[in-house]
Amino acid sequence: MFNILLLPGDGIGPEVVKEAVKILEFVFDRKGVIVDFHEELIGGCSIDKYGVPLRDEVVEKAKGSSAVFLGAVGGPKWDNLPVDKRPEAGLLKIRRELKLWANIRPIKVFKSLHHISPLKKDVIDGVDMVILRELTSDVYFGEPRGEFGDHAKNTMIYYKEEVERIAHLGFKIALSRKKKLVSVDKSNVLEVSAFWRKVVSEVSRNYPEVELTHIYVDAMSYYLILNPKRFDVVLCPNLFGDILSDEAGGIIGSLGLCPSASLGDELDKGKIFGLYEPVHGSAPDIAGKGIANPIATILSASLMLNYSFGMAEEAKLIEKAVEKVLEDGIRTPDIAEKKPKKKIRVVGTEEFGNCVLKKLQRLMNK
Ligand code: NAD
Ligand code: IPM
Ligand code: MN
Repeated sequence: MFNILLLPGDGIGPEVVKEAVKILEFVFDRKGVIVDFHEELIGGCSIDKYGVPLRDEVVEKAKGSSAVFLGAVGGPKWDNLPVDKRPEAGLLKIRRELKLWANIRPIKVFKSLHHISPLKKDVIDGVDMVILRELTSDVYFGEPRGEFGDHAKNTMIYYKEEVERIAHLGFKIALSRKKKLVSVDKSNVLEVSAFWRKVVSEVSRNYPEVELTHIYVDAMSYYLILNPKRFDVVLCPNLFGDILSDEAGGIIGSLGLCPSASLGDELDKGKIFGLYEPVHGSAPDIAGKGIANPIATILSASLMLNYSFGMAEEAKLIEKAVEKVLEDGIRTPDIAEKKPKKKIRVVGTEEFGNCVLKKLQRLMNK
C-alpha cells in the first residue's frame, strides 16, 4: 500500500492540488492500486495555525510516505516576516530535510499553444528541454547568513560532491535525450561558479558521447529568448535554475504549464521517493478566483506516477489527456489566445480539471 502526503499550501496551491488529486484518485482506482492520501499544512497556513512554516512532525510524515505532493507557499500576508520565518522557509526546509537535491523542470511547448508564447511561432515551435536545477545547496543554504546591523550576508558555497552528483544526473539525462548538455554558471566573476565549471568538466570525461557547453548565466538568459530550441538539458546551480526556469515558463507562455519533480539519492532505483510541485508560486493576484491553471500541477502528478510509482504508461496518458483538452480549445485565462484562430472556451480551474479527467477516463477505458 502506498501513501501520499499532500501539502496544498497557500494561495492557488489548494485550488490546483485539488484538480491533480482528482486525476490521481481516478488512475489509482482504475489500476487497483491502493493509495492513502494524507493532508498537512506548509507555508503561511502553517504559520497561522502553529507559528512555524513547517513542523518537524510533518517532515517525519513526509519521510514515511511514498511521495509528497505540494501546491505552493507564500503570500502578501506573510511578506513582512524575517526571511527565516517566512512560508518559503518551510519549502526550503522540506527540500533539504528530505535531501531532494535534484529538481527536474521539463519545459515543453504544447502544439495547440504556440500562439500564447510572446515569441514568434517559428522560434517557439518544438521547444522541448529539461532544466535540471540543483536544489539543496548554493546561496540558498550557505552559512553564515543574516542581517548584522549595517550589513546583511548570504554565503554561496558548493561542495565538490554536490556538483558531482547533479552533474552525473545531468549527463545521464542527456544520454537519454539528444546528448547535449549546457551547464550554466557565472565563472567569469564567482569562484563558486569557476569551481562548478571545473567539476562539471571533470565529470564530463565519463560521458564522451555527450556534448558539453558552458554558458554564463547572463548570456544564457539571452539565448533562451533568442533561440530556445537550441537547448536540450540545461544544468543549473540552485539560484540560476530558479530564475531561468521562470524565464522558460514565460517563453512557453505561462508558468501555469511548468511542472517539477524533486528527487534525491534513490535515483538509480525503480520506484523512487520524490516531492512533486508546480514551478509557480501561490499567485496572490489570482488566488481565490478559481481561475488558476492546474496544468503544471496535473503534469507534476504525471511526473510522480512516472518516478515514484513506476506508472510510466499512465503518466503519458495524463499528458495526452491534457494535450487533447487543449486541442479542443479549452483554456484557463492565462493561456487564452487574445485573437484565437480556432474557437476557444475559457473555463476555470475546476472545469479544466474535469475536462482532463473526462479525457483520461476515455483514454484509459479504451
Ligand atoms: P507566482 O509564480 O506565484 O506568480 C507569478 C505570476 O504567474 C502571477 O502573475 C501569477 O498569477 C501567474 N501564475 C502563476 N501560477 C499560475 C497558474 N497556475 N495559473 C495562472 N497564472 C499563474 O510568483 P510571485 O507572484 O512572485 O510569488 C507569489 C508568492 O509565491 C510569493 O510569496 C513567493 O515567494 C511564492 N512562491 C512560491 C513558490 C512555491 O511554493 N514553489 C514558487 C514561487 C513563488
Ligand atoms: C521555486 C520557488 C522557491 C525557490 C521559493 C518559494 C523558496 O521560487 O520553487 O521555484 O526559490 O526555490
Ligand atoms: Mn522559483
